[in-house]
Amino acid sequence: DGDVYKYYADGEWKKSSSNKSVAIINPTTRKTEYKVQACSQEEVNKVMDSAKSAQKLWAKTPLWKRAELLHKVAAILKENKAPIAECLVKEIAKPAKDAVTEVVRSGDLISYCAEEGVRILGEGKFLVSDSFPGNERTKYCLTSKIPLGVILAIPPFNYPVNLAVSKIAPALIAGNSIVLKPPTQGAVSALHMVHCFHLAGFPKGLINCVTGKGSEIGDFLTLHPGVNCISFTGGDTGIAISKKAGMIPLQMELGGKDACIVLEDADLDLVAANIIKGGFSYSGQRCTAVKVILVMESVADALVEKVKAKVAKLSVGPPENDSDITPVVSESSANFIEGLVLDAKQKGATFCQEYKREGNLIWPLLLDNVRPDMRIAWEEPFGPVLPVIRINSVEEGIHHCNASNFGLQGCVFTKDINKAMLISDAMETGTVQINSAPARGPDHFPFQGIRDSGIGSQGITNSINMMTKVKTTVINLP
Ligand code: G3P
Repeated sequence: DGDVYKYYADGEWKKSSSNKSVAIINPTTRKTEYKVQACSQEEVNKVMDSAKSAQKLWAKTPLWKRAELLHKVAAILKENKAPIAECLVKEIAKPAKDAVTEVVRSGDLISYCAEEGVRILGEGKFLVSDSFPGNERTKYCLTSKIPLGVILAIPPFNYPVNLAVSKIAPALIAGNSIVLKPPTQGAVSALHMVHCFHLAGFPKGLINCVTGKGSEIGDFLTLHPGVNCISFTGGDTGIAISKKAGMIPLQMELGGKDACIVLEDADLDLVAANIIKGGFSYSGQRCTAVKVILVMESVADALVEKVKAKVAKLSVGPPENDSDITPVVSESSANFIEGLVLDAKQKGATFCQEYKREGNLIWPLLLDNVRPDMRIAWEEPFGPVLPVIRINSVEEGIHHCNASNFGLQGCVFTKDINKAMLISDAMETGTVQINSAPARGPDHFPFQGIRDSGIGSQGITNSINMMTKVKTTVINLP
């Protein structure tokens, strides 16, 4: 069937022998936009074999050559930003401009990764034995970083290109090979991105992309004995994977319920602008979105007014028009968000706008006077709905933040840097932003969550290190 996108294995585009496909529904039209192959378990086995043998040769390829190829693919990716962005618009309803930004950011990430890789992997350590008690200077220890092997990369729908590349580039520069399982919504964008690696001339089998149903190949991939590391970004599935996975390193970035703590002395215009950007960009479908506002009662009315005025100016519509608010990724996601809204309504939250939904399109909504008994106080809507909890002390805000099962990022707005530092220390999250909304980038900054928000740290440098292990050779002198 010529209409079904092929998967990529061993340097070739292939049709699955299953003769089955998976439909990708355009979130805006709610009609099938594309189809991808439903790969079988046997096909996954073959992919694992070729990834394993390709990795052995790649690890012996000089570091500068690996970097050169990565620079090449970065350029090709940027040259092809328009068609890839077009797929992002159709598959995940990302606003057109943001879709282009995602691809360009991915090219930059790959280049930076190549540069960082040649530096940090280009040096090792030299230790001598006589610094430890009881030893003479008879042992020299050389350390270097060696690749892990085959990396299974599983990115989420919200950045199918960028969060794929943020796993692929560190893996490759460090001498690993890749098996990519893209999200279904975003699979075609990912296949186009993989095509750029094909065009750049990476060795056969080094990067592979299998598509299919999670129910058929999900567990099969994550439990596969050929996998030496899993890098996953997404939701609860990550928790399930971490419980079942074998003795391999895991890099996980799961959900967040990023709190925005607003003190009495905060610049409320700055806060309102950051709440809009942090809470509503890509319709709130970011792990790092502002997901709960914890504002001191004395400035709450003023802040809510400012945010309301800005919400009224957000454009709502299709991603092709570059609307601020676009349809959420799926009908089930829209239904879930609606469930949170109705629960808040029933429990007495103040609706700053009328709740409105057409298909998967949900109008931006600010919910004031949210209380801890409402689901929206704790759960992650992954949509354009933002709760405001009024607090009477900073401690109350910190307590709410730390009582969450998530701990990705948080932010605090105040003009008092000393207070901000103390609050940052008290917030149990991977990152605290002072006077700005949470965000993963710039992409070389460390990025990590605690509790249910993840395992390990990402960001370019940390990902390169995480995808290697230390190898030592000890020279014993007579
Ligand atoms: O939701 C994915 C998470 O990684 C957010 O990234 O760049 O939107 O802060 P960013």
